[in-house]
Amino acid sequence: MEEYRRKVAICGSRGLGSYLARAILETGEWELVILSRNPQPDLTANGIKVKPVDYSSVDSLYRVLKRQQVDTVISVIPDAEVQLNLIDACLMAGVRRFVPAEFETSPEQRPLYGLGDKMTVLVRLNEVSAQLESTVFSCGLFMETFAPGGWRASGSYSYSWNDGAFLLDLERKKAFLPIDSARSLSTVVCLTSAVDVARFVAAALFLRTWPPEMKMFGDRLRLSELLDIAQYVRACEFKVNIITEEDIEFQILRTANWGDQRVLQTMRSILSHEYNIDKRYLNAKFPDIRAITFEDFLRQCWRASTH
Ligand SMILES: NC(=O)c1ccc[n+]([C@@H]2O[C@H](COP(=O)([O-])OP(=O)(O)OC[C@H]3O[C@@H](n4cnc5c(N)ncnc54)[C@H](OP(=O)(O)O)[C@@H]3O)[C@@H](O)[C@H]2O)c1
Repeated sequence: MEEYRRKVAICGSRGLGSYLARAILETGEWELVILSRNPQPDLTANGIKVKPVDYSSVDSLYRVLKRQQVDTVISVIPDAEVQLNLIDACLMAGVRRFVPAEFETSPEQRPLYGLGDKMTVLVRLNEVSAQLESTVFSCGLFMETFAPGGWRASGSYSYSWNDGAFLLDLERKKAFLPIDSARSLSTVVCLTSAVDVARFVAAALFLRTWPPEMKMFGDRLRLSELLDIAQYVRACEFKVNIITEEDIEFQILRTANWGDQRVLQTMRSILSHEYNIDKRYLNAKFPDIRAITFEDFLRQCWRASTH
């Protein structure tokens, strides 16, 4: 007999939150509640429980978590202040587990200069680890970055720059890629479909204990291979532009546009090997979950170009 109640709260209704909700409900083993800033009539109409919350009030978050008897909180809200409030509310409500909004690079591979919002949350989670178990899910780039409309098409707020033109623009058959100091496209990037990320997260809910980080990926490729596969799937040669590390640094200092900054900073992180996830921990733990490869993923959403 388990001593905890199988109930998950996902904080954030759209973007990755919707993928996680689907995968968790598909297990048939967990109750789900979505915490959202607003009522979500379309979700409620589909039988999904939604509780509107005020993320600025720890007390109101605590009351919702307590009343709902939540065991595990998964945050997809990329905002440190909100997540720190959520952690405080979890501690007050006796929540057992917390997943911070990571789902990208591994904290181990982040440079010290890149401390910031995400690390503030991880430091806090480390401080309270005796009362609140937590883990970071690291998966590299979402493959949906390369689907029509990019990750923005999933309803994401904060990744609106990720619009289907980052690195590879399969619609316009173009590429804009960062080259390394040897002027080559050999930097390695790991990729996982958000559908698979959600399936691995749902499976991990059943693990008895959580290590501080759980890594996964669907594919590991050099940038040159990424380009080759895209050209192969579209059956045409792309117009390729490259950018050097120095140009990235130069432009980061001069670009005021927020979206362009995110593009440049993500390219800088790629060249710093932050997207090279070193282990397939969750793939090995759950071999029945066959993560899709990049080529198969592209084939699902793109055809050979006819013009
Ligand atoms: N690996 C990759 O390539 C990749 C790509 C994109 C994102 N990610 C990661 O995936 C996670 C989720 O990203 P996402 O694009 O799905 O996030 P998002 O759409 O920006 O936000 C997810 C949800 O959080 C809520 N939310 C957003 N901003 C908020 C705020 N300031 N205060 C309160 N609630 C807020 C919204 O839900 P409500 O409207 O229901 O309140 C929103 O639907 C993040 O950790 C991000 O770093 C990874």
